[in-house]
Amino acid sequence: MKFETPAGTNPIDRQRVIGRPLDRIDGPLKTTGTAVYSYEQHEAAPGAAYGVLVGAGIAKGRIRSIDLAEARRSAGVIAIVTHENAGPLGPQGFYAAHVLAGPDVQHYHQAVALVIAETFEQARHAAALVRVDYARTGGAFDLAAARGTATAPENQPDTAHGDFDGAFAGSPVKVDQTYRTPDQSHCMMEPHATVAAWEGDKLTLWSAQQLVSWARRDLGALLKMPVENIRVVSSFIGGGFGGKGSVGADAVMAALGARAAGRPVKVAQARPMMPNNTTHRPATIQHIRIGAGTDGRIAAISHESWSGNVKRGMAETAADQTRILYAGANRQVAHRLALLDLPEGNAMRAPGEAPGMMALEIAMDELAEKLQLDPVELRIRNDTQVDPSSPEKRFSSRPFVECLRTGAERFGWSAHKAKPGAVREGDWLIGMGMASAIRGAPTITSAARVRLGTDGRITVETDMTDIGTGTYTIIGQTAAEMMGVPLEAVDVRLGDSLFPTGAGSGGQFGAASSTSGVYAACVKLREAIAAKLGLDPAEADFSDGHVRVGNRSVAMVDAARGGPIAAEDKIEFGKLKEEFEQQTFGAHFCEVAVHAMTGEIRIRRMLAVCAAGRILNPKQARSQVIGGMTMGAGAALMEELAVDKRFGFFVNHDLAGYEVPVHADMPHLDVVFLDELDPIASPMKAKGVGELGISGVAAAIANAVYNATGARVREYPITLDKLLHALPQIA
Ligand code: MOS
Repeated sequence: MKFETPAGTNPIDRQRVIGRPLDRIDGPLKTTGTAVYSYEQHEAAPGAAYGVLVGAGIAKGRIRSIDLAEARRSAGVIAIVTHENAGPLGPQGFYAAHVLAGPDVQHYHQAVALVIAETFEQARHAAALVRVDYARTGGAFDLAAARGTATAPENQPDTAHGDFDGAFAGSPVKVDQTYRTPDQSHCMMEPHATVAAWEGDKLTLWSAQQLVSWARRDLGALLKMPVENIRVVSSFIGGGFGGKGSVGADAVMAALGARAAGRPVKVAQARPMMPNNTTHRPATIQHIRIGAGTDGRIAAISHESWSGNVKRGMAETAADQTRILYAGANRQVAHRLALLDLPEGNAMRAPGEAPGMMALEIAMDELAEKLQLDPVELRIRNDTQVDPSSPEKRFSSRPFVECLRTGAERFGWSAHKAKPGAVREGDWLIGMGMASAIRGAPTITSAARVRLGTDGRITVETDMTDIGTGTYTIIGQTAAEMMGVPLEAVDVRLGDSLFPTGAGSGGQFGAASSTSGVYAACVKLREAIAAKLGLDPAEADFSDGHVRVGNRSVAMVDAARGGPIAAEDKIEFGKLKEEFEQQTFGAHFCEVAVHAMTGEIRIRRMLAVCAAGRILNPKQARSQVIGGMTMGAGAALMEELAVDKRFGFFVNHDLAGYEVPVHADMPHLDVVFLDELDPIASPMKAKGVGELGISGVAAAIANAVYNATGARVREYPITLDKLLHALPQIA
């Protein structure tokens, strides 16, 4: 099905199953420990040996030699894979991360060997006996120092409209500030893990992959084998946040290891390897200038962002949203990318917007203060219903002002005091802050197969994944709604490359794209069933397990008397994507208490208002948003990969040193979804919400901390040492 005109009324609008806050259908499997994750495929791949990765001990240089003698002699060792015996690999750093070092080392903890043994303990012990002799060379590890060498990245052209310099110079009220966001680690619960098994020249990988078809494609290129010979299974995934968006060392080394060992091999990343061996969100330096009239209307806005990455790595597109979030005739956006010898930077939950909004939304708070204008009102005054750079382009929907007003009302924003440090409860300084939220709503082609069984049950199959987001349930809800059966009558099978190619999980495109693919397949199945029953498919109503035309009603299962009926289709998103700017919008509100003596920051309450089209399952969508808000709190107050700028690695590479919020850090979080349908976005009239939930959160917290204390911190995370200088005056 091609989706090229806005959706009209369709069976999804009935909302008998869709739009309900239903429990996850995979919940019981997870809470009873019976959902089988990649590393646990004992039955599918019996007798697997254990592989343990050895990570490089230098960030840049060359391997002079590897001494495996002692490791080979160690008990239980079956095989050891290094660059010397791995065989030729396809281009690294293009299709996949630099998964295997040798002789050159691209980054710290890059895999130099996989040691395979009978037991995990034997493999880990032998891995410690691998002796690598390195020739270490210097490298570029400091974004601030490399900033001057940064260049315009390919595929990220600068944009400029009007006369920024002139308009900025002539503006009566100006903000001109630089903000910094650190490197961050995904810290998903399930480490990257793979079990690999060969049968002749056919490879099966049970692997935690957000995008099964991408993984298969990239493995094919890297292992130089036809993708038809590769099966990737990713039934359950314990979180990804972008970190499982490209194949990593666990997958590739498990495949090579299983070939060397002549039997299945399982590899899981050890937690302390993950931050340096896998990808991370790259640090940014962002320069923002905004010029406004005394009425608060923006006349000039400029956002420039610097980030660093390995060769062929992407720029963190932190300035992108500034092209479209606020009005203003004179505007410019630019990204600059420096070559760094740190581990590879890549997508992490709302790449671009998450760090970009951390900066832009403090800048807006600073502008509001200079204007002596309420921060909510400043944003309302600068709303735009068209792309400010191409006014003929409208948004598919943009209830941004409604998000702001609803949030202000629900949060009690009228109690906000413009003057910082004005509210005090004993030793605690109380502040309120807010920020806008925006995140792109991309959609991609997604296919599915649906089947009516002889027992009347509906089965859905697609290689779409559920990374903890709730995909199983919303796909089941979609099929149930379309076929007129209860959710309990639907079986959902995901994450296997034997199934039709779904969207995969990433970029907030998964929910809308994959359910639309199921919608398309169900339209075909309805046609097939109606035809079988001799009913006009255009007239047929599918409800309560029956197909009705006029006053004729037939049990749907009758169509499957002679055997199951299956249908397959894909949704392809067409020109509406070019004709309309498709985004999700929101507003975040936060109240903090900051201890006047110690600078300790406690988040007291937070509210997110989100507009993301139809909300397919409000319970799950709320979970997505409170997860995003929690991650935003981490970004605001604690998360930072500390770079050792001498040796080029992330020092705090485990969950003891890299801090993320725990339950005690998070108060009750309130989420409101605007009642909205977006018929331009997808036939489901839905968009994604998982990445909207993090965008803007950290700035709302930063602005609340400023409002509490008067200390404006422009370098995340806002740890208390950055506040102390300002506290004596206030305390
Ligand atoms: Mo996402 S960070 O594009 O999985």
